This record gives sequence, structure tokens and C-alpha cells, in this order.
Amino acid sequence: MSGKIQAIRGMHDILPERSALWQHLEDRVRNVLEAYGYREMRTPLVEVTELFKRSIGEVTDIVEKEMYSFEDRGGDQLSLRPEGTASCVRAAIEHGLLDQPQRIWYRGPMFRRERPQRGRYRQFHQIGVEVLGLTGPDIDLETILLTRRFWQALGLDGLRLEINSLGDAPERARYRGALTDYLDTHRDALDEDSRKRLTTNPLRVLDSKDPGTRAVIDGAPSLIDFLGEETRGHFDQLCAGLDAAGIDYHVNPRLVRGLDYYNRTVFEWITDALGAQGTVCAGGRYDGLVEQLGGKATPAVGFAMGVERLLELIDADAVRGGPDAYLVAVGERAQQQALLLAERLRERMPGLRLLCHCGGGSFKSQFKKADRSGARWALVLGDDELDNGSIGLKPLREAGAQRAVTLDALPAALSETTAAGGEPTHS
Ligand code: HAM
Repeated sequence: MSGKIQAIRGMHDILPERSALWQHLEDRVRNVLEAYGYREMRTPLVEVTELFKRSIGEVTDIVEKEMYSFEDRGGDQLSLRPEGTASCVRAAIEHGLLDQPQRIWYRGPMFRRERPQRGRYRQFHQIGVEVLGLTGPDIDLETILLTRRFWQALGLDGLRLEINSLGDAPERARYRGALTDYLDTHRDALDEDSRKRLTTNPLRVLDSKDPGTRAVIDGAPSLIDFLGEETRGHFDQLCAGLDAAGIDYHVNPRLVRGLDYYNRTVFEWITDALGAQGTVCAGGRYDGLVEQLGGKATPAVGFAMGVERLLELIDADAVRGGPDAYLVAVGERAQQQALLLAERLRERMPGLRLLCHCGGGSFKSQFKKADRSGARWALVLGDDELDNGSIGLKPLREAGAQRAVTLDALPAALSETTAAGGEPTHS
């Protein structure tokens, strides 16, 4: 029994060489969230299956086909969370957080048993926000402004915003009737899945990728024409806010979203750079969900971003991982002192990422490891340096000879802008 065990299809390890990029994204996003007054919430990865059935909807792809559900040893029906909104709302009700507005964010793995392909995984990561207790449309606008700031902070451009309004329940019910009548008259031109959805969840037909169905959809009535005065006003105010903020958007009347809890505003940020899985961020308003899950009626809006998809858009080479410096020790005395010196340097220079060579070896082999570590500098400790309280400093990412600096002068020397123009990461 010595065969190798591999990770599950569609579930990926995040290896050390990629983790700097993940941390870069997470740090930037967290800074933006804090600038808008959001606080983090962490909920369990496993919830009772009923939670997702009642929130996402029984007749959705996620609940019907994609959840990892199981009975635990106590006989409870549980599921790995396929998204974060349901858990967040459950927790807010359970802990009595709804007596005042809440701006909450979360991050972590989500699980959907979809067919894996580029940008679509079975374990994927979201960073999401949920605002509970505000009716908008100002808060709808703020969440979109927040997303724009993420793209700025991450250096992403070329994302386009699509928005729509799904109306409130009675408006949607009226639309649903009109849409069903229309689709029914074109039943023969619909794909099989869409024919099934015609009776179970006709709005989802609008999401079909089938060319024949798409042609039918082109002539379908638009939900936006069924909005009442109030919902229309909400949507118009959001649009006016987006205009005033200089955010380009496209009103897509076919944007319906794959989860049932939405009403009024829905939106998606889409890139053309990732092929079919181009939606990097999606969300909207879900004013009925809190009540549906047993809480007092509370308006809400939120969105989630797919972290793997965003990472594909970030220039990985621009995010330097690895240590700032690698300490090489030559000779027995230096090798004995190296760890202690490294401790002193870390105390003197908080934030310095210093990797101290362990395991001995020749000068040449230590230097090779220093180079491979990705460090910007090698620090060289030998007998001379020990005797005169200095250290050898050699740049590793650009040409430059080794020079001796005193320990006092080291922080300044490491902070110098390099010839390559890069700023040291520890300062
Ligand atoms: P969602 O559209 O199902 O919405 O997912 C949000 C984002 O998660 C997608 O736009 C995509 O970037 C990413 N994503 C979804 N599935 C996968 C997958 N299999 N592999 C990789 N990335 C994926 C929600 O989950 C809602 N909870 C968003 C929300 C929050 N609405 C209101 N509040």
C-alpha cells in the first residue's frame, strides 16, 4: 500500500511560492475593507444542509447538483458551504447582531462540485461582504464603490460592470408569468435543461448558454419593464449614483444570478481575460433572506469575489515573495554565531524578512541557496566580520560587489533603493 495519495480533483494546494501572491491580494483587500468600516466574521465551513436549501433555493444548480452533502455520525444532514451569505445571515440572527446595521466581510474556501476547468474549482476561495440593515440605494452604490477601490488597489483594469434590477417578489411573480407564457410558445426551440426550468425556475432560463435558447431569450420580455415605481426609483437612483461616481456600467436585463435570494439590485464585474469563467465578483440585494431564515425583516446587500479568478489577473512577477536577506556564515565560529546574530538583526529591524542559513556547508553551496531563496541580499558573516562587528552585504538580484558594513549602518544600507528601482520590502 505505497501508492501516492493525491489531492481531490478541483481542489488545489496553495504552495509556498504562490502564497506571497495570495497574501498580497488579501492584504490589499483587507486594507480597503477596513477603510470602509467593515469587520470580519468567520463562520464554520460546515452547516446544516437545510440552511442552503432555504436560502440559495431548492431548484438551483448549487443545491440540486453541486453541494457536498453528507449525513454525519449523529445522523445530521450537513453540507460544506457552497457560499458565504447564508452562513453570515444565520450567524447574524443567531447572535442577535441585527439591532443595528452591520458591515461584515469574510473570506475562505467554498465548495461546489462543478466540472473543474480554468477559473472553476470544487474548492475555491471567496472574499465577500454582507451589509445587513440598510435599504439603499446609497448602500448599493457604496458596495460598488468598494469593489472599484479593490480593482484600483490590486492594479486591475479592464473589468466591466453589469447591473440589473430583479424587482421585488410581486413584480418578479408578474414577470415570471409573462416570461413563462413567452417561453412556452417557443418551447420546441429551448434546450432540454431550459424546458425543465420552465416549470421549476423560469428566470434561470435567461442564463442559458445554449445558442437556440439564447435566440429565444433575445425576444423575451424584460424584467425591468415590470418594475413598480418604487423599485424603478431605487434602480434609477443607483444608476445616477454610478454616473456621478464616474463608474461605467451596462444595464443587462438578462442578468439574473444563480441563487434565489436576490431582489432589486444585482451586479457582476466581468473580465474578458479569463474565457468562460469571467465573472470575478458578483452580488446584489437580498431583502427577504433574513426573514426567510427566521430573523426579523432586515434589508441586506452584498457580494463575493472569486479569489482564484482575481489572482489570474494580477501580475505575479510584480509581487515579490521570499526573504529580504539570507545570512551566510563562513567558518566554524561564524556558524556558531549566525543564529544569535540573526536574532539581533530581527530585533533591530522589525519587519526584516531574514532567512538564516542552517545546516553548514561550503561558502559556495550556501551562496547558491541564498540565491535560490529569492532574497534580495546575502549577508556574509566570517571571522573578519565577527572580529570587527561588521557584516558583508552583497546584492543578489543585480550586479554589485560585496562590501562590508557595520551593524549600525546595516538598516540604512538595506533600505537604499536598489539600482533596479525596487524598494526593499521590509521598510
Ligand atoms: P456567486 O456568483 O455564486 O455568488 O459567486 C461569487 C463569485 O465566486 C463568482 O463571481 C466567482 O468569481 C466565484 N466563484 C463561484 N463559483 C466558483 C468556482 N466553482 N470556482 C471558482 N470561483 C467561483 C455568491 O456566492 C453569493 N454568495 C455572492 C453574494 C454575497 N451575494 C450577496 N452577498
